[in-house]
Amino acid sequence: MKYFINDDCIENQYFANCVTQVIRERRSVYADKYFRKKIPEEQLSEILTNATWAPNHKMSEPWRFIRLAYQQQVDYGNYMVDYYKERYANLDEQKRDDRYAYLRAYPLNAACILGIVFQRNHAKGLAEWEEIAAVSCAVHNMALTCTAMQIGSYWASGGSAIEYVKSLGLAPHEQSLGLFFMGYYDLADMPKPKRRTSIDLKVSRL
Ligand SMILES: Cc1cc2nc3c(=O)[nH]c(=O)nc-3n(C[C@H](O)[C@H](O)[C@H](O)COP(=O)(O)O)c2cc1C
Repeated sequence: MKYFINDDCIENQYFANCVTQVIRERRSVYADKYFRKKIPEEQLSEILTNATWAPNHKMSEPWRFIRLAYQQQVDYGNYMVDYYKERYANLDEQKRDDRYAYLRAYPLNAACILGIVFQRNHAKGLAEWEEIAAVSCAVHNMALTCTAMQIGSYWASGGSAIEYVKSLGLAPHEQSLGLFFMGYYDLADMPKPKRRTSIDLKVSRL
């Protein structure tokens, strides 16, 4: 096998710098920042293929992604309005209508929304956390690929996202882990980085 990461690249740190840059420039970019531009199919295919390259114990590959059709994006907006009805019940009518209009329009801004499904595989004897960790790695591979393609993305795990994916019809061994949003946005309006705690406080030595 020919290695792409050859000695030259190692010597000049080219790939290490690229990886660091992609990791540190990834942001959760929310759908109210997206403009409605489609992601070319080849790029979407690369994003999804990179998900499948995530590490996973015993090759259980415990993920499935449901690509929402445009009509399902519309449905999800309506679903959110219904889901959050009680939360907004006490607002005055105008504010409530504005809120509902916002929720209905929100998913339509996305170029693509994926349902994130965890497929439990009891036969391999893995702990559930190992498999959920593998799904998280897959989702992060997608997020990093999006960053490298200048596409915004984020993982939505709020109640409406979890429940909506369930409503799409999951098998008994499947669990909803929410939605993965993707969309183009104005890079000049990239969200500010959120401060990270120093490794001095996160790495202990004995
Ligand atoms: C498993 C997971 C679930 C998340 N769920 C939500 C969510 O439901 N709503 C939300 O606004 N952000 C969600 N996020 C994004 C986090 O809020 C975000 O990663 C965090 O604020 C750090 O910001 P950054 O991603 O831009 O570095 C989620 C992230 C992860 C990893």
